[in-house]
Amino acid sequence: MRRLLPDPAEDIDPYYEYGVAGDWLRVHMVLSADGSATDEEGWSDKLGGAADFRVFRALRALADGIMVGAATVRSGRIKPARLTKEMAARRGRPPAPIVVVSRSLDLDWESALFSEGEPIVVTSDGAHAPAPAHVRVVSAGDGDVDLRLAVRRLREEHGLRHLLCEGGPGLTTSVLRENLADELCLNVAPTLIGAARHTRLVNDLERRELALEAVYEDEGVLFLRYRPDGAPAS
Ligand SMILES: NC(=O)c1ccc[n+]([C@@H]2O[C@H](COP(=O)([O-])OP(=O)(O)OC[C@H]3O[C@@H](n4cnc5c(N)ncnc54)[C@H](OP(=O)(O)O)[C@@H]3O)[C@@H](O)[C@H]2O)c1
Repeated sequence: MRRLLPDPAEDIDPYYEYGVAGDWLRVHMVLSADGSATDEEGWSDKLGGAADFRVFRALRALADGIMVGAATVRSGRIKPARLTKEMAARRGRPPAPIVVVSRSLDLDWESALFSEGEPIVVTSDGAHAPAPAHVRVVSAGDGDVDLRLAVRRLREEHGLRHLLCEGGPGLTTSVLRENLADELCLNVAPTLIGAARHTRLVNDLERRELALEAVYEDEGVLFLRYRPDGAPAS
């Protein structure tokens, strides 16, 4: 991986490059060059290839908690996070738990995510269905989930200071709308998906300005790191 901006350099190690200290919420998603957040299977695996996965693994190894929206979890493809040997040695502690954000709690509690791992579920007091007793639940808000409060509770009650939000678009939209993201990392794959299979990165969001902080390249994938300005642009 090479850094293009700032200060061009070869052989960048993403684990060190993306390292941050203290409280942090990083949104990380992969997109096609025409801006789709899904590939032809409605998933994202086939967008960025090996280069994308290297950064994906490094960002997971750096995080204390991995936030995922319930619709992505309902796809059945989210398993407990695992680390490569190399990343496990660097991290020196177990993989970060998956943090599922769900209003409805309409989740498959028998799935590998819940039977093989120890995820945390973020919901509100108004959730329609209860979670099984063995699942850790962070409840924040009455009707809708108060994401700001949930993030605070994840940090204060579960020690998850560095949160990685992996989408999908619904959760990413909520996180950006609430101005909770310290960083937006987009991996742009050198692939055109076409309108028929196109899924937007965000929806139902007022215009926001982003400050470009860094750009990397690996195997044709562009890795963009933005700092959201916070307030909606007028
Ligand atoms: N390109 C990428 O990097 C990437 C990453 C992940 C996923 N994806 C793709 O994205 C698609 C799924 O995305 P999606 O937008 O449909 O769904 P999503 O963001 O994965 O999940 C949406 C769900 O999350 C919960 N949620 C979101 N915001 C919430 C809030 N503020 N309060 C409470 N709950 C909240 C709700 O769950 P309930 O319905 O349970 O209430 C909502 O229906 C899949 O095709 C997946 O493959 C792409």
